[in-house]
Amino acid sequence: MSTAAARTLYVRRSDSDPTWNAKDTTMDSITPINTDKPAALAARYGAAVPAAGPWNDVIASLMMHRSVRGFRTDPVPTGTVETLVAAAQSASTSSNLQTWSVVAVHDPAKRKELVRIANNQKHIEVCPLFLVWVADVSRNERLASEEGATLEGLPYLETFLVAAIDAALAAQNATVAAESLGLSMVYIGALRNDPEGVAKLLNLPKGAMAVFGMCVGYATPAGAGEVKPRLSQRAILHHDVYDAAAERALRADYDKEMADFSARQKMPASDWSGRVIDRLGKIPALSGREKLKGQVNALGFPLK
Ligand SMILES: Cc1cc2nc3c(=O)[nH]c(=O)nc-3n(C[C@H](O)[C@H](O)[C@H](O)COP(=O)(O)O)c2cc1C
Repeated sequence: MSTAAARTLYVRRSDSDPTWNAKDTTMDSITPINTDKPAALAARYGAAVPAAGPWNDVIASLMMHRSVRGFRTDPVPTGTVETLVAAAQSASTSSNLQTWSVVAVHDPAKRKELVRIANNQKHIEVCPLFLVWVADVSRNERLASEEGATLEGLPYLETFLVAAIDAALAAQNATVAAESLGLSMVYIGALRNDPEGVAKLLNLPKGAMAVFGMCVGYATPAGAGEVKPRLSQRAILHHDVYDAAAERALRADYDKEMADFSARQKMPASDWSGRVIDRLGKIPALSGREKLKGQVNALGFPLK
């Protein structure tokens, strides 16, 4: 089939054929652990279950998300990186600038150095696939230089934000794709402990910065964990105007949910409020990221 014919055919089958049944295709099906809507909502919200309406397997798969830090060493299926990157490249991208790149890190020595940068997160070495997601305006800089153009908009904070948002949307699409295939993942924001170190290790050009990494693989039984509850939608979802009137009571309820979650997971006793204060209360908890602005500047983002 020609590319042009494929393009005209590539519409959503359910839109064009009312008799179409996804189960008839040879695609790898979504593999959620539990598609039961009330159970999925209860796992995510505890007692504060929202009145969610429409539901399908994609949503069920999203609701099953949990970060996994214990991976089996067996490899992901052949072509997984390419599938995940196809999903990632299908995300929206601001003005179609496509200001992101991704580096799959295979070299064990490089993985070891990334473990060090990320405060000894060993799963970076163990997982079969490690991806580094990069906010990347260097490609557009090269384009401008080849075309003899000047990109006056490039040095602005806005352009860095566009690149970081693009990278995050792409990575989350890859996450959704990976989890739909029965794979697990965890983001590694700790690469921002030393973005200049990461840039050197991966030979990133000026105008490219690793915004986070991602471990992908199959969870060990012990690593699979449990869905982590979230705040009540009443603390997050506002209608017409922002309204935090009920927030204190909702936070107290969530603190209890998270304390129970920590106890079930045999994690040190803590509630959500305590964790927020621990994470943001003192500079050392930033693990070097308090110097990020200077590092981002040095990597070629003036942030005007
Ligand atoms: C951008 C980003 C960076 C993260 N960095 C790390 C990390 O360095 N190490 C880690 O163990 N988890 C990391 N996480 C995972 C979060 O801790 C996790 O998503 C959060 O606690 C909610 O848990 P859940 O993903 O299991 O629902 C990161 C998540 C995001 C979105």
